[in-house]
Amino acid sequence: MLKNTLKKIVSISLVVATMAAFTACGNKQNASTDGAKEKAQSATMEKIKKNGKLVIGTSADYPPYEFHKSTSGKDEIVGFDVEIAKEIAKDLGVQLEIKDMKFDGLLAALDQGNIDIIVAGMNPTEERKKNVDFSNVYYQAVQSVVVRAADKDKIKSIDDLKDKNVGVQKGTTQEDIAKNQLPASKAVALPKISDLVLSLKNNRVDAVIVELPVATSNVNANKDLLISDIKVKNEVDGSAIAVKKGSTDLLESINKTIDRLTKDKSIDKFVTDATNSVEVQ
Ligand code: ARG
Repeated sequence: MLKNTLKKIVSISLVVATMAAFTACGNKQNASTDGAKEKAQSATMEKIKKNGKLVIGTSADYPPYEFHKSTSGKDEIVGFDVEIAKEIAKDLGVQLEIKDMKFDGLLAALDQGNIDIIVAGMNPTEERKKNVDFSNVYYQAVQSVVVRAADKDKIKSIDDLKDKNVGVQKGTTQEDIAKNQLPASKAVALPKISDLVLSLKNNRVDAVIVELPVATSNVNANKDLLISDIKVKNEVDGSAIAVKKGSTDLLESINKTIDRLTKDKSIDKFVTDATNSVEVQ
């Protein structure tokens, strides 16, 4: 009697176990087909993985974000944007390649597929969002106005810049700031920050609008320049990374990296280190 009951229990358990195994199998199969559907890679992600490298576009005239530095005789592009890009590449499991170009050529380069992402202290403006997708903001900066130290007492307000030439980098939000917030001045848009600094030193422009960390780096390297008290406002807050529209998987990975680097305060460290490594004359 007891033997029989035991037998029954054993056989019932066997049936149950087999059924469970089958169901598990079935579930597994479903899960993997669903997963495959979800994991359909964007064209950019496919290219990055296939080539084993992430190609970033930047405009390396923007210390401490990105700038040229010669380390033991070798020219290198460094800066906190570069450090962030290295982490993004690391998390993707690929190498990093940097393409340096004019800021106003970056969006076209992304569109044409010459670069995979833009890391260039770029603000996520509504206008740009029509053509590209942006990551979460990874850094916030305020705007500043750089003038010649000799003009310290002469140029102290937006009014003092009436009819004067004000330099801005071409294709940047600083160009919008000049147009919207200094309408009585003449905006002079040049491709590189170095051109602007030179123009200011040579009296071709009387002020340059630029983000504060960049102003500080340039003023430290040029004792004949200083940051004025003139206040201009951000039109759009923060720097973000641009990707080709629809590269959702890539954007997700980038945002995860940014999130990690924000939480563990790495970005703050990258900014401090980059600021300290700008060559001061
Ligand atoms: N933040 C400004 C913009 O998005 C200027 C960025 C310039 N970046 C550079 N690497 N030169 O328009």
